[in-house]
Amino acid sequence: MKSCLAFLLVISISISSLSQVNPKNTQHDAAMNQYVSTLMQKMTLEEKIGQLNLPSIGFDVTGPVLSQGVEEKIRKGLVGGVFNTYTPIAVRKLQQLAVNETRLKIPLLFGYDVIHGHRTIFPIALGLSSSWDTALIERTARAAALEATADGLNWVFSPMVDIARDPRWGRVSEGAGEDPWLGSQIAKAMVKGYQGTDLSKDNAVLACVKHFALYGAGEAGRDYNTVDMSRIRMFNEYLLPYKAAVEAGVGSIMSSFNEIDGVPASGNKWLLTDLLRRQWGFRGLVVSDYTSINEMVNHGVGDEKKVGELSLNAGLDMDMVGEIFIRYGIDLVKSGRVAQTQVDAACRRILEAKYKLGLFQDPYRFVNEERPAREMMSADKLELSKEAAMKSMVLLKNAGQALPLQANKKIAFIGPLVKNQRDLIGSWSGAGDWKKAVSIWDALQQKFGADKFLYAKGCNLVQDSVLRKRLNDHDGQLTIDPMSPAQMIDQAVQTANQADVVVAVLGEAFGMTGEAASRSMIGLLENQLELLKALKNTGKPIVLVLMSGRPLTLEWENANCEAILETWFSGSQAGNAIASVLFGEYNPSGKLSMTFPRNTGQIPIYYNAKNTGRPIDPNNKYSTKYLDVPNTPLYPFGFGLSYTTFNYGEIQLSSASIKPGASITASVAVTNTGKFDGVETVQLYVRDMIGSISRPVKELRGFKKISLKVGESGTVHFKITVDDLKFFNADLKFVAEPGDFKLFIGGNSQDVKEIGFTLVK
Ligand code: NOJ
Repeated sequence: MKSCLAFLLVISISISSLSQVNPKNTQHDAAMNQYVSTLMQKMTLEEKIGQLNLPSIGFDVTGPVLSQGVEEKIRKGLVGGVFNTYTPIAVRKLQQLAVNETRLKIPLLFGYDVIHGHRTIFPIALGLSSSWDTALIERTARAAALEATADGLNWVFSPMVDIARDPRWGRVSEGAGEDPWLGSQIAKAMVKGYQGTDLSKDNAVLACVKHFALYGAGEAGRDYNTVDMSRIRMFNEYLLPYKAAVEAGVGSIMSSFNEIDGVPASGNKWLLTDLLRRQWGFRGLVVSDYTSINEMVNHGVGDEKKVGELSLNAGLDMDMVGEIFIRYGIDLVKSGRVAQTQVDAACRRILEAKYKLGLFQDPYRFVNEERPAREMMSADKLELSKEAAMKSMVLLKNAGQALPLQANKKIAFIGPLVKNQRDLIGSWSGAGDWKKAVSIWDALQQKFGADKFLYAKGCNLVQDSVLRKRLNDHDGQLTIDPMSPAQMIDQAVQTANQADVVVAVLGEAFGMTGEAASRSMIGLLENQLELLKALKNTGKPIVLVLMSGRPLTLEWENANCEAILETWFSGSQAGNAIASVLFGEYNPSGKLSMTFPRNTGQIPIYYNAKNTGRPIDPNNKYSTKYLDVPNTPLYPFGFGLSYTTFNYGEIQLSSASIKPGASITASVAVTNTGKFDGVETVQLYVRDMIGSISRPVKELRGFKKISLKVGESGTVHFKITVDDLKFFNADLKFVAEPGDFKLFIGGNSQDVKEIGFTLVK
């Protein structure tokens, strides 16, 4: 009875708060409800179930192609939307089938994996998150929406907001790293960027937050693997970004491949209905991941019909590729295993999405043959791509001011990624054309003229034939040089010997990251390390320019290279952006959104850990530590250098205590003490010293960017409210508990100033 009352209360709160928001929305909702109800009255059960079907048709797939004869199914009204089809011509053709040849003329949704740009490719999401610049990230999502809608699309499967603490997982490249607070800010920014202010505009797309939920916590970093997690950890550390996206008004959510508490997400009623819709008030549509309903058979929770029943009853609306709903839906309803109202609700949510996108008004809203020429890779978007790339790069080491480079020195650029274009746009670069990406070498030629610098390839990007074959089977373009590995190294060493400084450009092939691309060892590949060691033996200073889709283990590199610049896979303008940073036109300002471990044995390693009962103590054997490696990471969360240096003053607090409903302000003076103008990201962390459950040693609660000229000082202020001190307690109530707190401010999660304060009752 009690839980029933609580449920009614939640519903009434969410309904009344939603209708209070904006009277215009309520009118819109009423008109939409009426429109959809009238339409649904005309629909047969088969047509309703048809709306729940999302086949893939066209260019690209990430699993078995199960969607046969899609055009015929569209004609029969058995398709609600398609994905992987784009360009106005292709979209118009399919939309015409739906609008002209079906009984009820219901237009289709057109989805696609627009992940970090559509035609203009921005840095991979992990890179973008390292900019800690939510306005910039929002602009990249907006630009992607402009191109996607110009290509006929109205739905993008982004943002991916899965918190990830295991860099072995290939898909860390697609998300915003390890922190739930930073991840939440980025999730909101991306939803706003994609959906704009008004979904019915012809340049707004429906966003789809994914993968709900906890997909980033697969055991051992292996893709699609089992997840098992306490509710306390879920609520405090993993669910926040999805919730933030819901609060930002995201129109759709994709369920994940993994199980939660033994129930696969795509059939998990607690997740999709109790939490998402009842507690969080989500009113959009839920789509499965690619055949994730079918895959519940492999999870071992039933045969195909049973998993269809589980999914529909869990509150999943749309079946991506698997066609379980259209195969078993009618029977499930007729036999009473699924209530007709459940199918009606799913169908309604899909029709509502179409209504919000304005598709009933004009099914060809996104089909304008003139827009592509205007939008695709326009000069402003390429400029934005370069800006985003520069702001995403993280300077990990810079001993003796090896960087920025001086163009009057003799510089040798060495490595398989110097002239490379294919890998620059990274994985999940959808409709991006790698042939249009600017290589580092081309950028240098453009900037400084031909033959200004020395070059040698030095090694193949991937020497190992087994790995190379695997990568090439999936769109890799990895080739083997006619020279032997030894000859290539010899040539590189000779080239290095002629130079004052060596820039080694090394890293992962794009296919070593992304979906189904987990690695058990995350260092540079052996052949690349061999090259680097040979270069080191020349005695020349080495600047290591890295491309990767994940944190790498870089102990040797850190000990032996003068400078290290992490550039991720930085997109269409990669070469131009890297050249600008290397030569000091842009002073790097990126900060890591994910910890770099010293070795794989430390994984999972993340900054917002718990203290344990036996915190590390070098003098006590029986304290939490390894025998063979320190507990600390190589580069902590929030870390990133600049060509200049910043000095932090002591923290000033407006009051040593805070009351419920009130706030305090923490201020810190930051001074540019180096030789370059620069931008610093000042980070604020808190720690709840004593809680009813143990609390992490630090949690990010704010950050601000400050731009300082040489010698300049500025003061950064943070307002802290009681909300910033809240967490989910053992009853999963979101509370702030009175008592002592610590507050930390610094340029990364490790090097901070600290001060205490108290939350009073
Ligand atoms: C599988 C991936 O997990 C998901 O992120 C993607 O959106 C779908 N495939 C569609 O391509």
